[in-house]
Amino acid sequence: MDTNDIASDLTEVLVTPEAIKGRLAEMARDIEAHYGDTTPLLVGVLKGAVMVMADLSRELKIPVEMDWMAVSSYGNDHKSSGVVQILKDLDTDLEGRDVLIVEDIVDTGLTLSWLLGNFESRGAKSVKVATLLRKPEAMQVELDLDWVGFDIPNAFVVGYGLDYANKYRNVSGVGVLKPSVYGG
Ligand code: IMP
Repeated sequence: MDTNDIASDLTEVLVTPEAIKGRLAEMARDIEAHYGDTTPLLVGVLKGAVMVMADLSRELKIPVEMDWMAVSSYGNDHKSSGVVQILKDLDTDLEGRDVLIVEDIVDTGLTLSWLLGNFESRGAKSVKVATLLRKPEAMQVELDLDWVGFDIPNAFVVGYGLDYANKYRNVSGVGVLKPSVYGG
């Protein structure tokens, strides 16, 4: 479905499907140039990164491997707890690998900061990050993000993999959720 289908739950549409497609293609050209002949291991963080992983990986014109990790830092609420728990670990040994973490959104940056440390401790040769969205005003840690699709305001957004209470993931664009929907 599109943001039009949930218009009454949104205050505004931030990113259209067309803008996402165009930006992912630009990021892909840059990522290809960076990796050259090496085959990166793309690691998607479930469940939010499913859409960006599917579209970014298909846009890439280099061979990649893919793996998934599930962590929890939000629960069912709309505020970051900062506590990261592994719900599903990787199947791949990271020793000597060039890892590209594929994220839907970097909000406080706490989850990613924890993941970066965790992957480096497993012996990855390099760990880079590609995220579709970033909320610069919400970041609580200093993080070097290698590829960022769009910087967005510090608001709670849904769509394109991003949820509120597991809803709205299948919306093709990204919009700001009305505070009344989450009781704000
Ligand atoms: P962090 O605050 O950067 O650690 O973000 C952790 C996770 O919270 C992200 O990977 C998303 O799954 C989720 N998240 C952060 N901001 C939003 C939002 O605006 N909408 C939906 N999920 C979000």
